[in-house]
Amino acid sequence: MKELSSLIKREIGKPSPIREIMKMAEPKNIINMGLNPEDVISFGGGWVDHYSPEDLREAYIRILSDKERFHASGGYSPTSGFDETKESIVNYSSILFNEKIEKENIIIGGSSTQLTIDLFRTLLDPGDEIILPDPTYANYYGQLSFVSDKIRIKGIPFLSQDWLYIEDKKEILSKVQEEMSKKRTKAMLLASPDNPTSQIIPDDFMKDLLKISRDTGTYLVIDYAYKTQYFSDEYPSYFSFSPLDYENLITINSNSKWGRGLGRRLGWIEASKDIINALERVQQTSILCPDTLHQMAFNEYMKDPKGLKKYIEDVRIDYKRASEITVQAIKKYLGFRHLVPQGGLYVSADVGEDSDNFVIRVLRNTGVIFVPGKGFGKTMKNGIRISYGPLVRKKEKIEEGLSRVGRYIHGK
Ligand SMILES: Cc1ncc(COP(=O)(O)O)c(C=O)c1O
Repeated sequence: MKELSSLIKREIGKPSPIREIMKMAEPKNIINMGLNPEDVISFGGGWVDHYSPEDLREAYIRILSDKERFHASGGYSPTSGFDETKESIVNYSSILFNEKIEKENIIIGGSSTQLTIDLFRTLLDPGDEIILPDPTYANYYGQLSFVSDKIRIKGIPFLSQDWLYIEDKKEILSKVQEEMSKKRTKAMLLASPDNPTSQIIPDDFMKDLLKISRDTGTYLVIDYAYKTQYFSDEYPSYFSFSPLDYENLITINSNSKWGRGLGRRLGWIEASKDIINALERVQQTSILCPDTLHQMAFNEYMKDPKGLKKYIEDVRIDYKRASEITVQAIKKYLGFRHLVPQGGLYVSADVGEDSDNFVIRVLRNTGVIFVPGKGFGKTMKNGIRISYGPLVRKKEKIEEGLSRVGRYIHGK
């Protein structure tokens, strides 16, 4: 047989740490460790487990039970998505975040994962630089490598050695300024709420980033995968900003987390018309068009979105409660330094030793799964990510799992 591409040969030996630990936790491996797979409690998953809106489910039923509409859902949509879906997104953004955006500034894609790699293809040449906070979403590193191994990733520590997030704003901003002033620095990408820290980038800090990026002509890309999972009563004011306010702002959005659409995937990017136009060309080659059925159902749901605000409110309060239970149990049973979530699905905690070893030891001895932090960046070498997202409907498991780990590490 002839050889595979040098790209895949380079990347295949670098699977994500999340996949690694999940593989280790497969039932046959758990049995080999002398544990019962039914007793495993996983804090590993990066997903949500609340129910989708009933009105959305009913929208699917109406489409599926109508022969002609079901037939229509089997057709291609335009490459950048239906006009009606873009209108639905304009409406959704206005209802939830008081955001003003126009259809021309939106492209619908298959998911934010696909849109992110397509955006990298749109913005970055070999030799260009992108700024990422450290830690950050682990998949970005692999996605950038799959675009080119010659893209420079400049990681700026957002997590200090004392485990404080964005402790010294001035210092971070001056590093950003220095990097963005370089000709080859094209973009900075950050998530808010973030994965793995579940921190929300502070309002004044984001406004400073927007200013620096505007002054230097650099793109500021915000990944809003967890935008609806914010825990304070108010969202930061920049959640309302759009590329109509800042031409070089690009936001990546997803249907995965707000209405549990992880397996019914859709995403969208909001950007200047030039970027949208360019992305459309890239998307012709990557997915041809986004999913039609999911667009139709979303549009049907958004015809009468009375319940949307209340639904989001209930969901975010539910995740906030899960985060509080997790934090309390960490304090009670583990005693690790940790970040208190401001949104999202995770608690990052400092285990005080190389977390790869810690996670394996804990799994073997307790059947509890955490994600080791290294894959998110150097600052998380001794950190773990504890995900409460998948346990939101089984909150009692949070305390059960963390108390089990506590008994093990404290030798009780
Ligand atoms: C920060 C971040 N962005 C994007 C994604 C993936 O989103 P999607 O399901 O829309 O591909 C995730 C998934 O965990 C994430 O944590």
